[in-house]
Amino acid sequence: MGVTIVSHPLVQHKLTIMRDKDTSTAGFRRLLKEISLLLCYEVTRDLQLTNIRIQTPLMEMDAPVIEGKKLVFASILRAGNGLLEGMLDLVPAARVAHIGLYRDHETLLPVEYYFKAPEDIVNRLIIVVDPMLATANSAIAAIQKLKDRGASNIRFLCLLAAPEGIERFTKAHPDVQVFTAAIDDHLNEKGYIVPGLGDAGDRMYGTK
Ligand code: URA
Repeated sequence: MGVTIVSHPLVQHKLTIMRDKDTSTAGFRRLLKEISLLLCYEVTRDLQLTNIRIQTPLMEMDAPVIEGKKLVFASILRAGNGLLEGMLDLVPAARVAHIGLYRDHETLLPVEYYFKAPEDIVNRLIIVVDPMLATANSAIAAIQKLKDRGASNIRFLCLLAAPEGIERFTKAHPDVQVFTAAIDDHLNEKGYIVPGLGDAGDRMYGTK
């Protein structure tokens, strides 16, 4: 496994506008939704297909549909919901897990306050979403929780990653492919990605 950088020009263009501190809350949210559609396209690019028999208005044919059980999107609250929304527009039948973790601002460690996932996650592909892979503490903990519930086919999708986060994440979960639009320069002493885009949750919801 490893890291896939989604370098599509539309993704890169939208990401630049999201980074700009003068982009409004409404603009940030709209761009996050748009970019999530493109990221979702990439993270699902290699899904297996199987043919089903259908009848078009003209004739019968074998036509492809996605094989296997419905996908699960697992959103790490609260910022994960910004990616989740667009992904559900593309894959409306997906099941959804919510994992509530907040970052203790002093220790930077994740504290769980909510976990709700579909019962049967064992044989499903799970795409865990969180816009920022910073220290990776939350992502590592969320994925461990899903693995403890029997999940074994997991991908992680974010918008921005720090090199430090990538290193820690891939050590903790070498079997989980990471998809990101960019890997930035570094993490600062407060755990922010630099140059980054600030606090994704705050920018999305206009808090702070
Ligand atoms: N979470 C954010 O929202 N932004 C960062 O830069 C790091 C973690």
